[in-house]
Amino acid sequence: MTASLLDGKALAQKVRDEVRADVSRFVAEHGRPPGLDVVLVGEDAASVVYTRNKEKASNEVGMRGRLHRLPAETSEAELLARVAELCADETVDGILVQLPLPKQIREDRVIEAIDPDKDVDGFHPISAGRLATGKPGLVPCTPSGCMRLLAEAGVKLEGARAVVVGRSNIVGKPMAQLLLAANATVTMAHSRTKDLASVCREADVLVVAVGRARMVRGDWVKPGAVVIDVGMNRDEAGKLCGDVNTEEAREKASFITPVPGGVGPMTIAYLLENTVRAARMRLGKKKGG
Ligand code: GUN
Repeated sequence: MTASLLDGKALAQKVRDEVRADVSRFVAEHGRPPGLDVVLVGEDAASVVYTRNKEKASNEVGMRGRLHRLPAETSEAELLARVAELCADETVDGILVQLPLPKQIREDRVIEAIDPDKDVDGFHPISAGRLATGKPGLVPCTPSGCMRLLAEAGVKLEGARAVVVGRSNIVGKPMAQLLLAANATVTMAHSRTKDLASVCREADVLVVAVGRARMVRGDWVKPGAVVIDVGMNRDEAGKLCGDVNTEEAREKASFITPVPGGVGPMTIAYLLENTVRAARMRLGKKKGG
């Protein structure tokens, strides 16, 4: 079997078009666009590019996107003060503080200072708790994008065996929660899992988010499985690659996400979608008292 490629670039464009239409409706209803505020501390080259892309993407769909750039030597107290201002600002619907932060700032303190109703990254412990308990809330963007890729491929999750490799708070754990909520039987595997290859071979749906170039080999994939590769690495030759050996896995899987052009573009698309959701959720709560 040669797997069909799940085209995240095209699907992300479709999601952005959906968000653009939703933003127009929001403006008509509320007289202002949803606002996304991205905060970057320091000059990390990759973070500068990522945050500019987030600001640009939000403005392209008609939101009010703003990038706040703070110097690398910003103190934790100064960053917390900026976050508090954004939490109090009624025109701010989504707050994203780009990670990693400089070493003098504790990431967890900053994440916990964000109003969970404006937490468009879905990283706040309250957001994680809402997801785990099935309450409405904001869900991390990358796992949301993976679920949309699965839906678009028509993958039936109910009763399916899903294996998530990687247990980060940002991808692995929320991904497992979303698959569980969709009635899959979920196994979480990680660097200490014994005989990882045979655990992976049980998966009808295999999601890999470990950050190790081409770690998952073709013979780890069950024939006909759906493979979602969240990895974005550079190999020894400097070439972009995922956590899965795509060439090998393609011979076994029914669907697979390419790297680049698979999961990556979906993350920003779902950041935009989360921002409109956050805006509607907050306004709905205010109306309801
Ligand atoms: N750094 C790399 N990816 C992300 C992300 O999705 N959100 C935040 N806040 N920082 C990041």
